[in-house]
Amino acid sequence: MFKAKRLISIDDLDQEDVMELYQVTKKFKSINEQAIRKTSFLKDFTVANLFFEDSTRTRVSFELAEKRLSADSISFSTGTSSVKKGETLNDTVRNLVSMKIDLIVIRHNISGAAHFVSNHTGLPVINAGDGTNEHPTQALLDLFTLYDQGLENKDIRICLMGDILHSRVAGSSIKLWQKLGIQFEIYSPKTAQRNLSGARFMKTRNLAGFNILYNLRIQKERQNVELIPGEMEYQKYFGTKEQDLKPNQFIMHPGPINRGVELDSGSADSPNSLILEQVNTGVSLRMAVLYLLAQKKGPVEPLL
Ligand code: CP
Repeated sequence: MFKAKRLISIDDLDQEDVMELYQVTKKFKSINEQAIRKTSFLKDFTVANLFFEDSTRTRVSFELAEKRLSADSISFSTGTSSVKKGETLNDTVRNLVSMKIDLIVIRHNISGAAHFVSNHTGLPVINAGDGTNEHPTQALLDLFTLYDQGLENKDIRICLMGDILHSRVAGSSIKLWQKLGIQFEIYSPKTAQRNLSGARFMKTRNLAGFNILYNLRIQKERQNVELIPGEMEYQKYFGTKEQDLKPNQFIMHPGPINRGVELDSGSADSPNSLILEQVNTGVSLRMAVLYLLAQKKGPVEPLL
């Protein structure tokens, strides 16, 4: 029985919840591979997608997930809303709630925004990325992608590379990996590190022992000061290059990629790259999260 009532953080899930979520994701993944992908599980259920910050993958995959579940959904972005006229986050969501929405998906540039909305609405809320805090569906879909390659927890050795300081993907992934006992180390410029309990930072680059090279984006939009001397230096000392790849190493990245910085094109597009597979999994994983959280509002057609 899925216990979580919202998905603001990986802390909202215990191990059993993660496993149940993955069983449901597997079922939706097989539905998504069929010719007819549309289902009616969330008929008469209304989802509001509130994107206060830019997004391609997360926004489109939530919208697709909702359509494939037959939910009614509305998508809201700051640029075309009354937020531009100065309306507060609280007023915006209270107005939406009064229009009888059932669940909120929110992306916001402020850490804690999803938590705030959850506390002020009492609705199931899914955090689609808040500031530098967490991006739980990304962490969950990434790990599912590895399981889908036939890997088990004991086989997975991840080197997480890049801008840890600003990465909400790192915030959620590290919690998830620690919850499930997955081995990982971090390789990052000293200026782009932050204190994450239990995380080990590698002093010198040695990637030979890892079968997953997980690259994070350098988040220029969140840097008040430059963290790295230059993009060419970053690619040389911290980036992943096709010529250095071992045959058994998978490449992952949450996107969007700074091509030629975190990854050269050879590695981003190599047969070892799981990047587009991560995006593909995102739709099924988000269908599963929506399906399980919708049950907190009322009965939903069983998924056999
Ligand atoms: N991975 C991710 O969150 O990408 P978007 O910003 O395009 O949604």
